[in-house]
Amino acid sequence: MATYLIRHTRSLSGEVELCTAKNAVLPLLAAGLLTQEPLVIKDVPQITDVDILLSILRDCGAEVVRNGNDVSVCALHPQSPRHEENMRKLRASILILGPILARCGSACVGLPGGCAIGQRPIDLHLKGFQSLGAQIWPVGGKRQLSGQLTGGHIYLDLPSVGATENLMMASVLAKGVTVLENAAKEPEIVDLAQCLNRMGANISGAGTGTITISGVERLHGAVYHPIPDRIEAGTLLCAAAITEGSVLIRGACAEHLRSLLFKLAETGVGIRETHVGIRLNGSAVTPFDVRTLAYPGFPTDMQAPMTVVALRCHGSSMIHETVFENRFMHIAELSRLGAHIRVEGNVALVEGGHTLKGGQVRSTDLRAGAALMLAGLLAEGETILNDPAGHIERGYQNLPEKLRILGADIERLEDHPV
Ligand code: UD1
Repeated sequence: MATYLIRHTRSLSGEVELCTAKNAVLPLLAAGLLTQEPLVIKDVPQITDVDILLSILRDCGAEVVRNGNDVSVCALHPQSPRHEENMRKLRASILILGPILARCGSACVGLPGGCAIGQRPIDLHLKGFQSLGAQIWPVGGKRQLSGQLTGGHIYLDLPSVGATENLMMASVLAKGVTVLENAAKEPEIVDLAQCLNRMGANISGAGTGTITISGVERLHGAVYHPIPDRIEAGTLLCAAAITEGSVLIRGACAEHLRSLLFKLAETGVGIRETHVGIRLNGSAVTPFDVRTLAYPGFPTDMQAPMTVVALRCHGSSMIHETVFENRFMHIAELSRLGAHIRVEGNVALVEGGHTLKGGQVRSTDLRAGAALMLAGLLAEGETILNDPAGHIERGYQNLPEKLRILGADIERLEDHPV
């Protein structure tokens, strides 16, 4: 449970440093199950999703040690998790399935949970494991998988990030060559492949639609530093764009943020890429149309923060969500602040330029929570943001603190929930 008091903030200025990417760190930690030697992941963010995954890894028999910012995972004798509860708390919990199956020849896991932004099935993961030779059957609400994996040719019906990661991890120890077609191309996939290769895997093509994995006997330990969080960078850039911003996001990688940077530039803000990060100046004025897509398209995780940018612009913007079927929950909350937004199917029509008035809103998922925090900066007066499930802290380390460093007026009212 967290409650935030957010006051209207005219301008943001200064600089902040990014964390490593949540969506890179979670699969990297799961990859620790693939070897009996320690895998050390550097600069792991202090967020609840990481804590939950670390509990699951311990439950899988791994020795997990957090030493300052670094986390070491050592899985001498991995096994399926005994407790289903943590699996339900986190979508990325499913990423332990590929490694356990590859290491042990069998796995039994509960179905994953996570943000309620759509159905989020795991059919593509399971179909892929079957193509690698696994047998699958349901056992008391869980899925039992069994089989010594052999390389196969897999075509993903959708370029699913999680399925690409899971199948890549399963096939590094499979006998023979696996080809993954229509694979996801996200930077986090490339990061995982790089780490696996450093552990002795033989993966090529990560970052393209076709990934080839030649199985090896075993992997060894490694020390790996993940990429910066492009979604945290994007959220902070959106915060700057809805105020009169002059900010430097240190560590932000422009190459990972191309679609967002072009879209923000369309709104009229100045974007400058420097060797230390990305600088944004000015505020969003010109409305825009955007469609979420798999990478390198516009990230669905930036859709909610970008909706708040559209509210700052003068005129009509159109936001088309094509990745998840239930990702407009922030819109009902934004309407409480006076936002003019009409939803038709998977399109949100945003009429920007109307003054928002502070009020009480509730976070429904991770990125919706971040978007509502930004909306509180834009709204006149005071906004109370209730985050009963602690969504924001699941995925952002110190988001309010970072915004405060830039001049935002935000307090966390943990001891006095409103
Ligand atoms: C990852 C990210 C999440 C991001 C999403 C899309 C992590 C930990 N999370 O989630 O922040 O929003 O990518 O960029 O990296 N699908 C199926 N069947 C499957 C798998 C997926 O139909 O077996 C569908 C999903 O319902 C969704 C689409 O494919 O509509 C994309 O999902 P996917 O890329 O798998 O997202 P995640 O890996 O869960």
